Amino acid sequence: MSSVATSEANTAFPIPANVFAETVTAVKHYTDRLFSFRMTRPQSFRFRSGEFVMIGLPNAEKPVYRAYSIASPAWDEELEFFSIKVPGGPLTEHLQKIKVGDTVLMRKKPTGTLVHDALLPGKRLFLFSTGTGIAPFASVIRDPETYEKFEQVILTQTCRENAELNYGRELVENTRNDELMSEFVGDKLLFHASATREGETRGHRVTTLIENGKLFSDLGIEPLNPETDRAMICGSMAMLREIEGLLQARGFEEGANNKPGTYVVERAFVD
Ligand code: A2P
Repeated sequence: MSSVATSEANTAFPIPANVFAETVTAVKHYTDRLFSFRMTRPQSFRFRSGEFVMIGLPNAEKPVYRAYSIASPAWDEELEFFSIKVPGGPLTEHLQKIKVGDTVLMRKKPTGTLVHDALLPGKRLFLFSTGTGIAPFASVIRDPETYEKFEQVILTQTCRENAELNYGRELVENTRNDELMSEFVGDKLLFHASATREGETRGHRVTTLIENGKLFSDLGIEPLNPETDRAMICGSMAMLREIEGLLQARGFEEGANNKPGTYVVERAFVD
């Protein structure tokens, strides 16, 4: 049978067994490459901030699933995702067209390494991201546990263009001003955003800014220190490798769910 690809919940195909079928409640487009969406959350669905799930559309007999970080915090009654639009991408070509009321499929088991359980206790938490790599951190910075565990939370995002940083800017602003979260966040949350291909931050990849110290001087904080700092990394393979190299050179060690360390990486999204 040939697959019919539409943006609508497609009743021509049955919902596969053992997946949640949820309803889209909001869609927001940031650029021609980026959008976020929210959908209903199954009552029985539990996850840890920073985890990801497999997402698909009911537009084929065997839907294509891709790993998506849950961007919303565990206390949110809905689920939020932040997605790239890949031209010709088997899922995102269709997912980018979803509208409020459409159905999105979600496999039942969340997983991932960007979780508090995989990190040893520390004083400062660094969250390094490029592009949609900010998504798991959108969950982590909206989790009260993050501020109970750390004295300071430093979120960084590097994107090519300025407009791609708007999701993160809104996220940080809303988190600081949120009625529930502001009490936990106070002035603990710092955000460093750089567009590498335009404006005054041109060329300012986060890796460069760590090496030349500008990240720390811009924010008025001390450089990285494995004694006090913990880090999570989410971005392209090239970025993961480089940040890992910088952290390891400074004495950081990778952690996992069964063996907490001083930094963690999510490799589920890189090809
Ligand atoms: P640049 O504009 O200098 O390539 P991409 O869309 O290619 O994944 O890139 C997203 C962002 O991540 C861009 O700002 C890009 O910078 C940056 N980037 C790419 N590779 C690395 C890397 N190895 N370390 C840090 N940032 C990177």
